[in-house]
Parts: sequence; C-alpha cells; structure tokens
Amino acid sequence: MLLEAKDLSVVYGRTRAVDGVDISVGEGEIVTVLGANGAGKTSLLRALQGAVKPSRGRIVLAGRDVTNGSSAARVAGGMVLVPEGRQIFVSMSVHENLLMGAYLRRDGGIETDIAAIYERFPNLARRRDMKASVLSGGEQQMLAIGRALVARPRLIMLDEPSLGLSPLFVEQLFSLLKDLNRDGIAILLVEQNTSMALELATRGYVFELGDVVLQGPAEELLGNQALVAAYLGGGEAAPTEIPPHAGS
Ligand SMILES: Nc1ncnc2c1ncn2[C@@H]1O[C@H](COP(=O)(O)OP(=O)(O)O)[C@@H](O)[C@H]1O
Ligand SMILES: [Mg+2]
Repeated sequence: MLLEAKDLSVVYGRTRAVDGVDISVGEGEIVTVLGANGAGKTSLLRALQGAVKPSRGRIVLAGRDVTNGSSAARVAGGMVLVPEGRQIFVSMSVHENLLMGAYLRRDGGIETDIAAIYERFPNLARRRDMKASVLSGGEQQMLAIGRALVARPRLIMLDEPSLGLSPLFVEQLFSLLKDLNRDGIAILLVEQNTSMALELATRGYVFELGDVVLQGPAEELLGNQALVAAYLGGGEAAPTEIPPHAGS
C-alpha cells in the first residue's frame, strides 16, 4: 500500500473528530471519502498531512512510518494535500504560487514541470504574472492543484475540491483527476458530490461522526446509494426508513 492509516484518531479538546479508523490508498488508486458535514473528513486529511497530530494510530507512507514526521517530510515522501478552500496565496502571482509548491525541491527540473502545468492549464499560463486574486473560483482550484503537482506527488489528497464551482468546472475538475490518475498519481478525494466521486473512484469510505460506517468498492457503494445517502444526511435516517425511490 502507498498510504496506510491504522487506528487513527484525532481529538480536539473534548471532540473526537476521528475515532480509530483504518484507511488505505494503493499505488495508482482513486479512493473517495464521503460523509456529512462534521463527520471528520477534513480532520482525517489534516492528520494524514501532518497538520494535526493524531492522538492515536499510525500513518505509513510507502512503507515508512511518518506518524511523527513533519508535513514537509510527507510532501518529500510524495503525499500532498489540496486543502479545503484551496488556500492559495491571493496576493502573490500565479507563477509565485506555483513556485511555492516546489519549496522542498532541490533539483533542476522545476521550471520544466511548471511549463507542463501551464500546458495543462492554459488559463493559468495566460495569467502567470497576475495576482491569484483575479482568478475565478475554478481557476483558483486549478492553481491549487497545479501547486500540488509541482511537488511531484505520488498521492494527492483533495478536500472538497468541487465546492463552489460551476457544473462546467466540476466536470473539468473530475476529468483532470482522471488524467492525473492515468499518469500514475494516486488520489484520496473527499467529496460532497457523492455520485461523481463514486463514479471516479475505485474504492470508497463513508464517515459518520469520526467512524467509518461503510466501505467497499466504489461500484458496490454506487449500487447502494440509498444507504450511502442515509449516512450523508447526518445519520438520523436508518436504512429501513429510506423510501423505495430514494437515491435513484
Ligand atoms: N480545530 C478544531 N477545533 C475543535 N473542533 C474541531 C476543529 N476542527 C474540526 N472540529 C470538529 O471536529 C469534527 C469534525 O470536523 P471536520 O473534520 O471538519 O469534518 P468534515 O470535514 O467531515 O466536515 C466536527 O465536530 C468539528 O466541529
Ligand atoms: Mg471538511
């Protein structure tokens, strides 16, 4: 496995945001994590990235235990996060934002890689010297992903990348993720757009209140959308309460 989290817990004060979950992402896989607001998805990604320290559990990246390592060590190990809300540097230019993605690289290939990113995202190329604040929401998301790519990841984690994007940009985003995966990059995708995420992914996990309540091949979860939807609704509806037409 490329990434393995075992018995991972994240606790903030008295809130147990993630409660002893096992998550894995294989080489070249697309794995999606679904769940209602507050289910613990962002906390999971932040723990995997190293932004919050897990209160319990282990994180193994490409065979190396990184549980107590820095975020930088994980980026160097091939794992990057495109955070919730993109978090690009709005007062910096598009090009400077991309360079930030390379801050850990010491090799000479950075400019070539950035050129490839401009080729992939012509809108970014046209605006390379403009402040990132002038970009549309969709372009900002492309910039956030471009910045992640400059780190040459083997695994990209994305936290609700389609949030706030127009349907056209959402389509573009999902086709980009498919392309990146074809290029050999594994993806861990947190999404609200359940059916699109499950159609893209190989496997999925459904979170509720910090627990994995459902997991399996994406195809199986797609065929069981009523159950998935019940958990996404906040967990009040038991599967038996779902009307027969739900989720179709
Ligand atoms: N920095 C924080 N401090 C305290 N509680 C937090 C913090 N971040 C998240 N939480 C709480 O942890 C739980 C999980 O949140 P989060 O991981 O953001 O879920 P999701 O991304 O699935 O919406 C929620 O109850 C949320 O209120
Ligand atoms: Mg979140």
